[in-house]
Amino acid sequence: MIDLTAHTTFRLPFQAQSVVELRDLESAPRQLAQIQSPTVVLSGGSNWLQLATPFQGTVIRPRLSHVQATSVGTAVDVRIGAGMGWHEFVMQSLKAGWYGLENLALIPGWVGAAPIQNIGAYGVELASVCTGVLAWDFKAKAMVTLSREACEFGYRDSVFKRDLSRYCILEVHLRLQQKGTTTVDYGAIRSAIEAAGGDLSCPQDVAAAVIAIRQSKLPDPDLIPNVGSFFKNPVVTHEQCERLLALHPELPHYPDSQGVKIAAGFLLDKAGWRGRWMGSVGVHTEQALVLVNQGAPSVDDLRALVRTIRAEIQARYDLSLEIEPTQVGDTLG
Ligand code: EPU
Repeated sequence: MIDLTAHTTFRLPFQAQSVVELRDLESAPRQLAQIQSPTVVLSGGSNWLQLATPFQGTVIRPRLSHVQATSVGTAVDVRIGAGMGWHEFVMQSLKAGWYGLENLALIPGWVGAAPIQNIGAYGVELASVCTGVLAWDFKAKAMVTLSREACEFGYRDSVFKRDLSRYCILEVHLRLQQKGTTTVDYGAIRSAIEAAGGDLSCPQDVAAAVIAIRQSKLPDPDLIPNVGSFFKNPVVTHEQCERLLALHPELPHYPDSQGVKIAAGFLLDKAGWRGRWMGSVGVHTEQALVLVNQGAPSVDDLRALVRTIRAEIQARYDLSLEIEPTQVGDTLG
C-alpha cells in the first residue's frame, strides 16, 4: 500500500493500492487507457476528505504543468496543465500581464482541481474566466473537450464534482485580459487596498490585499491541517433571511440568483463554535467556517463534530449546512 496521507491537507489517513503519475499530454491518454482498476484523481488534496482507507484501486496524479498562451486582441487564451500549483499560476499570470485571477490568489491546490469546486473568492469564481477543460473521459475512454457550458458550473459545484469517477482533468482553459478591470466590492478588499495606499484599479494591488486578508483569516494548510471552508454558505429564501436578520441584524448576506446567500461562518461564530474542539478536530479560532485538526485526525471525531454542528445549527436557525469539500470513499452523512 502507498501512503498518501501527506498529500491531502486535512491529513485523514489515506492508503492506496497503486498510484499513476501523469507527466505530459502526449503519454497521458495511453497511461489512462491502460488502467483497469477503480480510479480516483488526486490533485493538491486541499479540498479532499478521505473517509475510507485503504483505497483498492489506482490514484491518478495529473502532474502536467505546461502553460500555452495565445493573444486574442486584448485578451489572452491560456491552456494550463492540471498539475501546476494554482497560486503559482495566479502569480505567473499577473507577472505576464494577464488579468482576471487576482481575487483568486493564495487558494491552495492545483489548477486541475479548480473547475471541480468552481473555486471562488472575493466576488470572483473560476467560471467567470474558464472557457473549457480538456479531460480524459473514463466512460468514453477518450480525450474530450468540455465547453464552459458543459462544465455546468454552480456555486462550489460542477459536472465534475457530481461524478468524480467520470473525468480526469488534464488541462484548464482560461480567457484572461491584458487590460483588466478589477473587482473590489466584496467584503474588506476595497478598504484593505485603500489602507495599504494601493490603487483600486491595479490587479497586483488587489492580489496583495486578497493575500493579506486570506493570511489573516485562513490557516496555512502546511501548518494547521484544514480544507478551507468546511460548509457552503446556504442560499435561503428572502423570508428565511428576514427571519435570521431579526435574530442577528448584522448577519452578512448577499444577493444570489436562487435567493439570498448568508454567511454560515457568522452564524457558527454566534452559536459559539469558534475555537471549540471534539477530540482530534475543532473549529478554527479566526474563522468558524473552517475546521482544523492537530495533525492526526480521526474520521470518527470528524463525523461527531460535523453531526453536532449541523444538528445545533438546524435546531437554532432551522438551517441545513451542506459540506463543501469533496468526500471520497464515504460521506459524513
Ligand atoms: N464571519 C464571522 N465569524 C466567523 C467567520 C465569518 O463573523 O467566524 C463573518 C465575516 O466577518 C464576514 C462574513 O462572515 O462578514 C463572511 O466571512 P468571509 O468573508 O471570511 O467569507 P466566508 O463566507 O466565510 C467564503 C468562501 C471562501 C472565500 C471567502 C471570500 C464559501 C464556502 N467560502 O467564505 O472560500 O475565501 O468567502 O470570498 O463560499 C473555500 O471555499 O474554501 C473558501 C475559503
